[in-house]
Amino acid sequence: MNTPAKPGAFLTDIKTLRARARQHIEQGAITESYKADLPTVLKLLNEALATELVCVLRYRRHYFMATGIAADGVAAEFLQHANEEQGHADEIAARIVQLNGEPNFNPEGLASRSHAEYVEGENLIDMIKEDLVAERIAIDSYREMINYVGDQDTTTKRMLEGILAMEEEHADDLGGLLEKMGS
Ligand SMILES: [Fe+2]
Ligand SMILES: [Fe+2]
Repeated sequence: MNTPAKPGAFLTDIKTLRARARQHIEQGAITESYKADLPTVLKLLNEALATELVCVLRYRRHYFMATGIAADGVAAEFLQHANEEQGHADEIAARIVQLNGEPNFNPEGLASRSHAEYVEGENLIDMIKEDLVAERIAIDSYREMINYVGDQDTTTKRMLEGILAMEEEHADDLGGLLEKMGS
């Protein structure tokens, strides 16, 4: 049977905590207790940023190119997703800076840094299918990142979990559209 720990026994004593916080203050939010592998986290976050930016571009293209009988509702969905992907990109970029990294917005190499692809699509159904594929890629890669980061960087993990939940919603929306359109 486990004996209950004395209250506060698992915590660092206040004196050490205070002294530690004074070291390396130039590192801002990154303290000694940050246990994740920072270069890897930053690399993963920059790949996620590229993925979100490519998704913004693809959804925006689809929004402007959506034509046909069912286009109005679908275009509105594309636009909403485009804006939400932009929101994700912003969240990720802000987190990269907080982790003392630099967000990579360089258009050169953007498509190859991204996990998801930029596919224009020939018609409305094609576009929806390509967007669904991209969402499914994003879902898998966010899930992997969440598992990798684990409890070593709970703030990044929480952000990724929030984004993952929204990508799942996006995929579900697109699946619903395809069903409605009988494809
Ligand atoms: Fe996203
Ligand atoms: Fe999405």
